[in-house]
Amino acid sequence: MLSLNGLSKTYGNGVQALGGFTLDVPRGEILVVIGGSGCGKSTLLRLISGLERPSRGTVVINGETVTEPHPLINLIFQEPRLLPWLTVRDNIAFGLADLPAPERDRRIRLALGQVHLEGYEDRLPKELSGGQAQRVAIARALVTQPEVLLLDEPFSALDALTRAALQNHILDIWEESRPTIILVTHDIDEAVLLAHRIVVMKPWPGHIVEEITVDLPGRRDRDDDGVDHYRREARALLGSSLASA
Ligand SMILES: Nc1ncnc2c1ncn2[C@@H]1O[C@H](COP(=O)(O)OP(=O)(O)O)[C@@H](O)[C@H]1O
Ligand SMILES: [Mg+2]
Repeated sequence: MLSLNGLSKTYGNGVQALGGFTLDVPRGEILVVIGGSGCGKSTLLRLISGLERPSRGTVVINGETVTEPHPLINLIFQEPRLLPWLTVRDNIAFGLADLPAPERDRRIRLALGQVHLEGYEDRLPKELSGGQAQRVAIARALVTQPEVLLLDEPFSALDALTRAALQNHILDIWEESRPTIILVTHDIDEAVLLAHRIVVMKPWPGHIVEEITVDLPGRRDRDDDGVDHYRREARALLGSSLASA
């Protein structure tokens, strides 16, 4: 269980990015966060990851307060942020220096398999497409076997087909190891296809205005009536949150 208790963040320049954000995220939930630009979504993920400290409030995972980057929590950004001079293998191995080589290699193979990139170990980042590079970034996050995966608009720089393929990879990964996933997106379709629950945020300071439980079993199809129902609901809530922002 991940508990976000009254999280607030005021930056040094006085911008209050987040105010009193409170939410419990049960283990294995796919939670999607939507909201206009500037409403504190990235701030929220950085606080959860421990990369940044809240001004007030706490992030608690399994009873432990997060005060620095936590081994059970990994953040994936919009751009892959691979080190250009390292191979795919070495980029993924970066966080595994403490493991014996055979276990490290096993983990790398497993993670590459999860994003369907077997055989790409020796490539350099410049030899990858945008979608492949983002899959390596996901593999790098998976290799430490985190309990919580945070994804900050991870597919927004990719074309529609690649995006759809990566959304499916995320669902494959979830079915395999049931991590808790918190995904920030602008894409309502993506939200409804992936989420167990959607929260809608509003800015100044960032907080939750609405919550939608997406009660659809199993893998979803874009064309299902149920998906269409939630898509309309999410779009309406997002629209009203932007209008009154
Ligand atoms: N490091 C920072 N220093 C000062 N202000 C920041 C910083 N990061 C974000 N902000 C401000 O905080 C607010 C929320 O930003 P952010 O969390 O990036 O929102 P979102 O991801 O929803 O677009 C914005 O007004 C933004 O300009
Ligand atoms: Mg952002």
